Amino acid sequence: MAQLNTQLLDDSTESVEKAAHIIKTGGVVAVPTETVYGLAADASNASAVNRIFEAKGRPNDHPLIIHVHSLEQAQQLAIDVPVYFQLLADAFWPGPLTMLLKKSAQVLDSVTGQLPSVGIRMPNHRLLQAVLTKGDFFVAAPSANPHKQLSPTTAKQVFNELYGKIDAVLDGGPCAVGLESTIIDLSQLDSVNRNNSVPKVLRAGPITAQQISAVLGINVKKYQTHDHQVPGNIEQHYQPKGTLKIVSSQQLLESLSAWPENSACLWFSNDVGKALAMAGEKSPINSVFRRISESKAEYAQALYNSLYQLDQQGFSTIYVERPPSSEQWSDVNDRLARASA
Ligand code: TXA
Ligand code: MG
Repeated sequence: MAQLNTQLLDDSTESVEKAAHIIKTGGVVAVPTETVYGLAADASNASAVNRIFEAKGRPNDHPLIIHVHSLEQAQQLAIDVPVYFQLLADAFWPGPLTMLLKKSAQVLDSVTGQLPSVGIRMPNHRLLQAVLTKGDFFVAAPSANPHKQLSPTTAKQVFNELYGKIDAVLDGGPCAVGLESTIIDLSQLDSVNRNNSVPKVLRAGPITAQQISAVLGINVKKYQTHDHQVPGNIEQHYQPKGTLKIVSSQQLLESLSAWPENSACLWFSNDVGKALAMAGEKSPINSVFRRISESKAEYAQALYNSLYQLDQQGFSTIYVERPPSSEQWSDVNDRLARASA
């Protein structure tokens, strides 16, 4: 494929118009969302959608999420929509929740990797909403990373990794949430729920199974990591270039005195902080200890960018202090497990 002269667009009205125009005419633009940056193309244009797969190096059978700016758009893309859809849209849209529904004839098979279901999300980002409204289209958009690598949370990261392969990057600042949306599968249900199916969480995300269950008044099911075989749900994912190892706080503390050279560590606990302060100038050569917040929301927001920056410094191994195992942290633990697989 010919090398493109990728444009970096700022957050002005002219940039929004330019981005909408590029997408309307079949181009691919990296766009900000509240979760991670996405690679957007007009979902009704097969050759534009194909360019997403090429730019990402993604296998053609991996389904893409469609991003909409209105409920009316979402309704057009699906059939036999269960009542749960409306309840969840009222509670969480615009926001980091993707719902799988039975697809309508309007949805291209190449968008869903030939599956009969379609993933739909209304993103909560002012600039992307403006682009979608301006172009009056819906866009297919996977995370804007090369296949299997870390999802980008800044425009600069997308620009560095995909320069020459896409038409433009729209800079909407750092993503506020920082991890990919929760995916809930409603596609096994029908509008009157004849078969009593229960929605299932396919990908842990910022909206927890508990939150969804509370809204629906039923206990939704959770897939164990990787046990649901759809293309795109792969064990090795979200990976930095160096090796990532998850270690307990205790293991970290015990290995501080003989810390391996040329490695990095992402830590958050007070105990590790204290031990590092005590080690002082004795800290190992060619190693970096980077603090990340112990608050879940701040941790998630900073995770991919922290790993990306450590990766840019060329460390062969990145040790990550194991986060808490509570439900609230399930998305973080899911991504770390895949990053270290
Ligand atoms: O937060 C997000 O969801 C971001 C932003 C850009 O919106 N998007 C994102 O897309 O993470 P992507 O393509 O990187 O991950 C989407 C996941 C894939 O694992 C894919 O297999 C799954 O969603 N998926 C999409 N449509 C599906 C479908 N019809 N059935 C099963 N899985 C589906
Ligand atoms: Mg992705």
